[in-house]
Amino acid sequence: MCGIFGFIGNRAAAPLLVEGLRRLEYRGYDSSGIVVRNGDLQVYKKVGKVSELSKILPNHIEGNSGIAHTRWATHGGVTDSNAHPHLSENGDVAVVHNGIIDNARGIRKRLEDRGFELKSETDSEALVHMITIGLDSGQEPLEAVRQTLNRLSGTWGLCVLFKEHDMIICARNGSPLILGQGDGESFISSDPHALSRHTQNIFFLEDGDMAVINKDGIDISRLEGGSSSTSMTVIEDDWGEADMAGYPHFMLKEIHEQPEALRRCISGRLDRANGSAKLGGLKLEPVRLRSAPHVRLIGCGTALNACKIGQLAIESLARIPAVAHVASEFRYNDPVINPNAIHFAVSQSGETADTLSAVKEIQLKGGDVHGIVNVVGSTIARLCGQGVYIHSGPEQAVASTKAFTNMVASLLLFALRIGRTRSFSRERGRSIIDDFQKIPDLMENYLSNPGPIDEAVELLKEAKSVLFLGRGLSAPVASEGALKLMEIAYIPCLAYPAGEMKHGPIALLEEGSPVVVIAPNDRHREKTISSMHECKARGAKIILIHEEGDSISEEADVSIAIPKCDSILTPLLSVVPTQLIAYKVALALGCDVDRPRNLAKSVTVE
Ligand code: F6R
Repeated sequence: MCGIFGFIGNRAAAPLLVEGLRRLEYRGYDSSGIVVRNGDLQVYKKVGKVSELSKILPNHIEGNSGIAHTRWATHGGVTDSNAHPHLSENGDVAVVHNGIIDNARGIRKRLEDRGFELKSETDSEALVHMITIGLDSGQEPLEAVRQTLNRLSGTWGLCVLFKEHDMIICARNGSPLILGQGDGESFISSDPHALSRHTQNIFFLEDGDMAVINKDGIDISRLEGGSSSTSMTVIEDDWGEADMAGYPHFMLKEIHEQPEALRRCISGRLDRANGSAKLGGLKLEPVRLRSAPHVRLIGCGTALNACKIGQLAIESLARIPAVAHVASEFRYNDPVINPNAIHFAVSQSGETADTLSAVKEIQLKGGDVHGIVNVVGSTIARLCGQGVYIHSGPEQAVASTKAFTNMVASLLLFALRIGRTRSFSRERGRSIIDDFQKIPDLMENYLSNPGPIDEAVELLKEAKSVLFLGRGLSAPVASEGALKLMEIAYIPCLAYPAGEMKHGPIALLEEGSPVVVIAPNDRHREKTISSMHECKARGAKIILIHEEGDSISEEADVSIAIPKCDSILTPLLSVVPTQLIAYKVALALGCDVDRPRNLAKSVTVE
């Protein structure tokens, strides 16, 4: 989604801004732009990739401060004029803005009535004119920005650059903004990945914070006046360089990184002696685990699919009711919150607005929430203040892969932990742990010989639609496989619990319709075979993901074998072929695998 990068110091700003934008590219965007302060404010912006912007930049741009933006359209189409930065009519003020201004229509109308000619269709452009009105009436820059923000409702991560003042002013309300203090230079970003190579000294702005940024320092205050309590954090987590390491795409690299990422996630957390798991970030004493009335898991997209697996694993192992919730629905359904219940917010980015608002809703109603998050220091991680980092490392492809497997692994660790305090024996715990420890190697083995994925691609690449089926823990795996294929290959995909297929989606099947079935050798196997027969009787072609050595393979048109493991762990392995299938179908169709159209990596608007 939209990204912001800014710099002020003694070095040339333009190359740093462009490099910052490149680091934000993975979030998904449709246009980009920069403005550099060099006597005047020089704006360059362009629809398309950052590489398109680079083509219109002069070879050398003077100027030691500037702000930059990648835009993911919300108000107004994808055009050069709607791209940020927006410049005031007198050329004195430039802004970049993430978020949505809810009362923009009225403000734009009033500005037009005052004679302003708005050049874009965006909500953001209104801000630059409002700030200019304040400056023209004699306000200092900070005051002009403050007065402007006080007239807005909505969300913002905002940066303002001034022709006449050697500073950048930033503000945050609902859209992340992170400031970095280097040696004689300061940085701004909406995303910690873009800052970590420049400095470890970070300020995570809180909602309602404003900051004046100079090369020598950062001064943070509150929108309502007074100073802010936001203080500097030294980022210790080595987020690592996110390059492609010889792979043609980030998605393929991240699929192959799963064994190592999983090792990181479970390392030190499996407690074989007790048949349990240690999750240091969870502030849940055994008495709380024993007495909790239920568990709720909240997420979006891939994280929601991980929640659904967590729900089944927690219920199965701990015999406690568990429910997965669609985050975007949660708050608006006015949920009843039991303060003794256990709540999890699951998110790769830790910035997803829908999940964030669900966290706030639970906290407002007296519950506490644990984060299951990848990005260290992200808003959800900080708001929850407790939880589990999944340690996937940077995930750059928009389609989530290694974060999914580590979310599932983290929820399985929690299922072990709560299960041991409530329900199953140490021996059962040890047996799961013995298999859990083997999963990274089994994943590696599978990835070195993934089976006839290309045959599956042949069946899928020209399909009008694809049905994914699974039962039990494999139903959410089917959903995840369908989501992945749909989002990067743009093929309409439906995922159904296999038994539900005959109640509707069976109508779609005709001669040659591809159906992807996930059927590990668990207690659902026989029933899944019946569903497959129903599909085959209608001429469907079955792509079957099953355990190696299982005679169920005879049912398949394309049979993809995964290694055997304890049935509670199968999603960690059965999802991997679905990721490879999506990747290869997207490639075969010539799609932009890492940056699918319309999608954003970090969805910071509701
Ligand atoms: C799917 C995908 C999205 C995200 C969703 C939640 O591949 O990437 O569906 O899973 O937007 O994002 P996070 O996990 O960052 O909250």
